[in-house]
Amino acid sequence: MSFQIPRGTQDIVPGTSELWQYIESKARDICRRYNYHELRTPIFEHTELFQRGVGDTTDIVQKEMYTFQDRGDRSLTLRPEGTASAVRAYVNNKMYGLPEQPVKLYYIGPMFRYERPQSGRMRQFVQFGIEALGSNDPSIDAEVIALAMGLYQELGLNKLKLYLNSLGDKESREAHRKALVQHFEPRIGEFCSDCQNRLEKNPLRILDCKKDRDHELMGTAPSIVDYLNEGSAHYFSKVKEALDHMDIEYVLDDRLVRGLDYYNHTAFEIMSDAEGFGAITTLSGGGRYNGLVEEMGGPSTPGIGFAMSIERLLMALEAEGIELPVEKSIDCYVVTMGDEAQAASNGLVQKLRRAGISTERDYLDKKMKGQFKAANRLQSKYVAILGDEEIERNEINVKNMITGEQEAVSLAEVSSYLIDKLKEEDGE
Ligand code: HAM
Repeated sequence: MSFQIPRGTQDIVPGTSELWQYIESKARDICRRYNYHELRTPIFEHTELFQRGVGDTTDIVQKEMYTFQDRGDRSLTLRPEGTASAVRAYVNNKMYGLPEQPVKLYYIGPMFRYERPQSGRMRQFVQFGIEALGSNDPSIDAEVIALAMGLYQELGLNKLKLYLNSLGDKESREAHRKALVQHFEPRIGEFCSDCQNRLEKNPLRILDCKKDRDHELMGTAPSIVDYLNEGSAHYFSKVKEALDHMDIEYVLDDRLVRGLDYYNHTAFEIMSDAEGFGAITTLSGGGRYNGLVEEMGGPSTPGIGFAMSIERLLMALEAEGIELPVEKSIDCYVVTMGDEAQAASNGLVQKLRRAGISTERDYLDKKMKGQFKAANRLQSKYVAILGDEEIERNEINVKNMITGEQEAVSLAEVSSYLIDKLKEEDGE
């Protein structure tokens, strides 16, 4: 009997997992430089967290959550995103009381959404995201955007577009909301049932509808830009000013509303405009959520963050033809001739590995030729050849596989010999 992997999931196998590790290490490194620290939260949470946090009217909560009853009859949900959990953890761990503010967090981990799988849309995907909690300074909005753009650029992507909008504060949103209801209400019968539901609950989301995107009322809908009050408009201008100082280009897009309920003020998405990227071009999205901490039972605290999936990042790299510089080779392959050498190689590989040298040997009783073939397949930089004779002389022949040079080295010194040689090659 054989089993199929569940729809919308994937195995990340050796050969590809190195790319993931490389990207994750780059993400961790940029977080280190921007002083964001890792937060690890559970994969599942109480369902209500997402209902409240992400919002009842969102697609995520209405149709995409993996929700189940546990044996104690609690309703739990596999996390569909990271922000609600990060805010919960911030409140539960009283991070608002920490002396160092704002609190700057990052996470890397699997998220789950029951969506229709297609290229770039998985049911299990890995998000890298950051959240900065406790600052209302427009500079931190720019910092979050800069980190997101920076990671893509440091990985070599350059066909990127940053779309920026402001959703304003509560008052601005309310005024805009009223205008939207007035605009759509007389002809709401011409819209899909989702939009009809959205009219009262969250008319902003009508602008995000894929089905009704070409309806004539979409193009003429009131723009949030015209409803931003003075404070919101000023805040937005400061965010743009900070981005200008960072030489980060953006495209203003007053239709960018984001699919989650918690946003206000700054909202942004980063798209790939590489040819052949496919239908879904959003690489990452984020924004400000000043009411969420309070909604989750904490003190009134501003917040902003973003998230990207590694899956879409890999697709963008492929579309731009970028190869990541992942190490594919090993340092040393130990080739043995004779029984005594084979037994002694156990001690040798152990010693080399403990010294930090990536080392492999044969476990299939291959002849010498086969062992060399294996060393070549592994692109081993060195081959150490151990025969019964060498053991008697307490020596080993070390061959540089690139130059073909070979040297006899005393067994006691082989690891320091290899370490020196590998360092030299690294240009140290
Ligand atoms: P989101 O726009 O729902 O925002 O997702 C952010 C990113 O996650 C997307 O831009 C995309 O890269 C990736 N993503 C979402 N769904 C899928 C999927 N089914 N398959 C592959 N990748 C996917 C959020 O999740 C917010 N929590 C972001 C945020 C953080 N806002 C503030 N802080």
